[in-house]
Amino acid sequence: MKTIVKRTLAAAGLVAALASPALASGNAGGPQLDKQSWSWTGLFGGYSEKQLKNGFEVYRQVCANCHPLKHLYYRDLLKIGYTETEVKDIAARYQVKDGPDDNGEMFDRPATPADHFVGPFANDKIAAMINGGAVPPDLSLMTKARKQGPDYVYNLLHGFASDAPGQPAEWWLKQQEKHGLDATFPETKYFNDFFPGYAISMPPQLREGAVTLPNGKEPSVDEMARDVVTFLNWAAEPELESRKTMGLLTLLYLGVLTTLLFGLKKYIWRNVHH
Ligand code: HEC
Repeated sequence: MKTIVKRTLAAAGLVAALASPALASGNAGGPQLDKQSWSWTGLFGGYSEKQLKNGFEVYRQVCANCHPLKHLYYRDLLKIGYTETEVKDIAARYQVKDGPDDNGEMFDRPATPADHFVGPFANDKIAAMINGGAVPPDLSLMTKARKQGPDYVYNLLHGFASDAPGQPAEWWLKQQEKHGLDATFPETKYFNDFFPGYAISMPPQLREGAVTLPNGKEPSVDEMARDVVTFLNWAAEPELESRKTMGLLTLLYLGVLTTLLFGLKKYIWRNVHH
């Protein structure tokens, strides 16, 4: 029995070891992900409301033009420091289908804090038509869905070779050589170092001036990438901070309990001599 368990574990380890270098970055032979240190990692890690709000602005002003984030409700924004009035105002900028009304008709109304985030396209067919055949995926769980998700999305946003779709032949030949590719580059796609297969339907997104914060500041490209990844990671797991607090309280509780039991044991055995 023991040998079977051992062999299974060894085999699983081998598979993991073989699979991980290939998955670590989307492209075999391509560049490795540039790993970042994120605020939420580690036992005491967490989020800063300022960064989450800035990240939300990047999502709202840029990514939301194509990507839904449908797991979130507008009222979730209360958790990152927006006031009730601000959340109402943010929600009211979007229209949701409701009904049927008394005449049996569907109608549009402004969204409220109780609504899910409204996506940019009425359906996937329209989304694909507008985006060169590819549907921009929902970003709610993106940082969890991809291996090393936060680092991957961060690198992807930085990984565009140029703004032009269908790279010039000469340039593309160099890339082919560098990355050992043998296909022609699709005319409607953009070269991205980190997207599996290098050809992505998403145009480059972050450039200076793409986002203006409520205080009038324009964050740098790197700040935008970092903040939006932080916001998306929070969106994928809004309970992370309270889960960590519970974990710490549990440790504290166990610590106190151990001390008490130790004291009790000493007390009970105090008159017993060896
Ligand atoms: C103009 C539309 C558009 C905008 C704006 C946009 N994207 Fe995309 N995005 C796409 C499309 C289309 C795809 C699908 C790409 C494909 O499959 O080739 C995509 C795919 C992605 C993916 C998935 C990559 C994968 O591994 O499958 C991520 C992550 C992503 N976008 C992040 C973002 C972020 C973050 C922003 C905002 C900073 C953003 N996008 C803005 C169109 C857009």
